Amino acid sequence: MNDKPFLTAVKTLRGRARRQIRQGAVTANCGADRKTVLSVLNEALATEIVCFLRYRRHQFMTKGIYARSVAAKFAQHAAEEQKHADLIAERIVQLGGEPDYSALRLALRSHPEYVEGGNLAEMIEEDLVAERLAIESCGEIIRYLGSQDPTTRRLMETILAKEEELAEDLYSLMQGITIRTPEHQAIA
Ligand SMILES: [Fe+2]
Repeated sequence: MNDKPFLTAVKTLRGRARRQIRQGAVTANCGADRKTVLSVLNEALATEIVCFLRYRRHQFMTKGIYARSVAAKFAQHAAEEQKHADLIAERIVQLGGEPDYSALRLALRSHPEYVEGGNLAEMIEEDLVAERLAIESCGEIIRYLGSQDPTTRRLMETILAKEEELAEDLYSLMQGITIRTPEHQAIA
């Protein structure tokens, strides 16, 4: 597996996520800084939406002998990401904020980059990279929240558990597919 995009993206993610978190003061009496929580949650929302879009593309671009089963898997992952996005948007509103659905800002806010992938092996690899980033990202948010905002923390823990399942799923898929054989190419 080519780990270059993963490393680049993780570097970006870590830098940005940590900057965000350090900027927000957490005080003993007031709980987590609301502005920071909202900003971090909007990044998490963008991450989910970009992941949803990438899975949707992969669902429709899958060709070859694994097409039907893999497309169904991508569709299932897309549905999960959409669910996560909705839960995060709901929480943002509960906290008095506004979910940012601006198409222009999505790519800038998302932790994983939107990478299309040229064939089935690349698609699965990119999805796995993105899931790992989402896991990193959720972990950062959970650690930041600590005991300051238990409701948001529980939500992020639920999402984290699901992201781990999705990553596991992709890893199994990757193992099950013999890559780099022409008939397995998703895009000729
Ligand atoms: Fe997700």
